[in-house]
Amino acid sequence: AKSPVRIAVTGAAGQIAYALVFRIASGALLGPDQPVILHLLDLPPMQGALKGVMMELEDCAFPALAGMVATDDPKTAFKDIDIGFLVGARPRGKGMERKDLLGANAEIFTVQGRALNEAAKRTARILVVGNPANTNAHIAMKSAPDLSPDCFSAMIRLDHNRAASMLAGKAGVAVDAIEKLVVWGNHSPTMYPDYRFAEANGRKLAEIIGDEAWNRDVFIPTVGKRGAAVIEARGASSAASAANAAIDQVRDWVVGSHGRWVSMAVASDGSYGIPEGIMFGVPVTTEAGTVTRIPDLAMDEFARERFALTLNELKEERDAVAHLLG
Ligand code: NAI
Repeated sequence: AKSPVRIAVTGAAGQIAYALVFRIASGALLGPDQPVILHLLDLPPMQGALKGVMMELEDCAFPALAGMVATDDPKTAFKDIDIGFLVGARPRGKGMERKDLLGANAEIFTVQGRALNEAAKRTARILVVGNPANTNAHIAMKSAPDLSPDCFSAMIRLDHNRAASMLAGKAGVAVDAIEKLVVWGNHSPTMYPDYRFAEANGRKLAEIIGDEAWNRDVFIPTVGKRGAAVIEARGASSAASAANAAIDQVRDWVVGSHGRWVSMAVASDGSYGIPEGIMFGVPVTTEAGTVTRIPDLAMDEFARERFALTLNELKEERDAVAHLLG
């Protein structure tokens, strides 16, 4: 029998986690034959609700669910974990400015980064979902100096999936026929979904679509504002699709993307002129926990503009929290 994989989920009593933990336990992440132990972290007032989630997990009788730990202590939650989904974060409250939001989350992700540094497996793969996801991931990484920066990434996959689905509809192709799609930058409305390199069934997607005005005036803004559109329609923020994207990103990361490009926000190695350490969405291929960036993609004038916009936002976020990182 395979030995169990320990998977932490933070914000475990929240709505994304409610869509995430059942799919992990059912085998959607690592397959139904891989036993998993869930480490569920949430704040003290949420422990009752968390207990209810655990009751439901028990009631699913998932064969792959080999155990559960519920806690409000990050070190306990991250003890010996192989995989971490960092979903819990401080939402923007009324009258809260961006710098307050960054500061409140910097505190959370400093504490969690230190706890990961102390307790997680050295090979752990940690995905940050909680917003502002890229900068939270940057903070956690900086707070865990004994873990390789390769242990961390931030979620840009929901944006990637949103873009892929919209492109498939426009081009009249199957969504899984789309290859070489990129979402660059920050998980925020400044992100740059870029299908200049994308192909479907051996043809350039841009040629099939043949509508550059649609790219600039419809596609890019619609992908960028999709999260707000879901809130407007549903009265609550994206949860099932966010959980699905988290599973997609981590599954590709730890199992492998089989040569397909996927977008992941990873700590920059300096390529594309992105300062080292900034968590920036880039195209990668993945294999058993290792990420290989796709290098040297050409930038035209429009692409350079869009790229700079999202990079500048991430530089500002980094600078706004720098003093909190010691
Ligand atoms: P939610 O409010 O339903 O749940 C968040 C949970 O996190 C709550 O149970 C809360 O008690 C918990 N929490 C807060 N601080 C914590 C801490 N320090 N330690 C442990 N738990 C903590 O929110 P939801 O809808 O589940 O969203 C979670 C986060 O994911 C939000 O920050 C949201 O903006 C972000 N998000 C990111 C996306 C992405 O593409 N990167 C997409 C959608 C949402």
